[in-house]
Amino acid sequence: MPLAEQTSSSSSTALDLTWIRSQFPALAQTINGHPAVFLDGPGGTQVPQRVIDAISDYLARNNANTGGGYQTSRNTDRMIAEARSAMADFLNCDADEVVFGANMTSLTYAMSRAIGRELGPGDEIVLTLLDHDANFSPWKALEEKGVIIRAVKFNEEDCMLDMDDLASKIGKRTRLVAVGYASNAVGTINNVAEVVRLARQAGALSYIDAVHYAPHGPIDVRALDCDFLVCSTYKFFGPHMGVLYGKREHLKALRPYKVRPNTDNIPNCWEWGTLNHECIAGIKACVDYWEELGCRVETGLAASLQEGRAKPAVTTRRAAILAAHEAIHPCERRLMEKMIAGLLAIPGLKLYGIGEPRRFEHRCATTVVRIEGHTPLELATKLGERGFFTWDGNYYALNLTEQLDVERLGGFLRIGLVHYNTMEEVERLLAALREIVG
Ligand SMILES: Cc1ncc(COP(=O)(O)O)c(C=O)c1O
Repeated sequence: MPLAEQTSSSSSTALDLTWIRSQFPALAQTINGHPAVFLDGPGGTQVPQRVIDAISDYLARNNANTGGGYQTSRNTDRMIAEARSAMADFLNCDADEVVFGANMTSLTYAMSRAIGRELGPGDEIVLTLLDHDANFSPWKALEEKGVIIRAVKFNEEDCMLDMDDLASKIGKRTRLVAVGYASNAVGTINNVAEVVRLARQAGALSYIDAVHYAPHGPIDVRALDCDFLVCSTYKFFGPHMGVLYGKREHLKALRPYKVRPNTDNIPNCWEWGTLNHECIAGIKACVDYWEELGCRVETGLAASLQEGRAKPAVTTRRAAILAAHEAIHPCERRLMEKMIAGLLAIPGLKLYGIGEPRRFEHRCATTVVRIEGHTPLELATKLGERGFFTWDGNYYALNLTEQLDVERLGGFLRIGLVHYNTMEEVERLLAALREIVG
């Protein structure tokens, strides 16, 4: 199928893949004469040219610290405010509820320290064994204050969170429930709205790790009504940085560890030292990419209407981001269906997580497998030589690989699809895997 025609069967929206792929210069590379195929999105996605340009343009013209009485410093202040407002639209919150940081892990350690200040012996925190360790260890460290950790199980057959276990672990003493939106290993999408509801009902805070979910689905912190949500822009086509949403009331009431000259104003009191300004410029450009993608989808839709005069529904940046997600979703699903059907046909292959298409709404396009007689490292290396970038190991989802008893065996081979991948890439990956395993 020609790239530009990669449309969804369940939706009339189309992704202009030729335009999309032209935005990402990295996708044009070759490895040992093979076209590079980026299936490593869960570890970090590629960036559009505009992100690269924004970063270098900032360094070339506006490189300065904040709060100074001169042009480049003022430009830096303005640029950061614009990026904050762009991220607020991405998450559906207000700009002063957006905190920038080095990455999700650092932001989570900072927030867990501040929340931990208010906790003591007998207080409980509910975590899950499905989560990346960055949403586990920072909270578990509070055991040193006498906090009790309750870890929720997952079902080994389909790697879905055991919601009954979760509900039973939330009680009168629960102060916080930390859960991932989607698993960066097995791809499970958790029912975070229900987790937030259960936490709220018990008077506990909710802390959502949306790092893996962000490139695959729309985030709406207002609709979720979560207390905190974290993500990392390098997983959704931006630079290497982390972003935390915190409800204004919590950002104001909690006491961050910080240096004295840093004011008590939110969100800056949560942002320590000098931030990575050039990457923040890249974050704004990353959200611009999402916006243009959404506008193009909507314009394409309007153009396909007979009269050609219909107005696209996109009137705000938030609406454009949602339109982009609406178009991405069915296309990723088609890629995932083809990938998983092809993988399951490989003799000796075991897929971990949901495998039946009728339940695919509970998973995203990230797949992990093991193949009898081959270690994940061997498979990833052989695929890498042929230009396919996949990952092996535990991806820090350590509780998961330990419980599934694959940690001692090198973990899994992970294949991650995002919207810039193509059907042809999936077919070629499957052919290469079949050839490697003989
Ligand atoms: C689900 C999930 N949570 C948290 C993290 C940690 O993010 P960061 O690298 O921004 O600290 C990752 C990174 O892979 C992840 O996939």
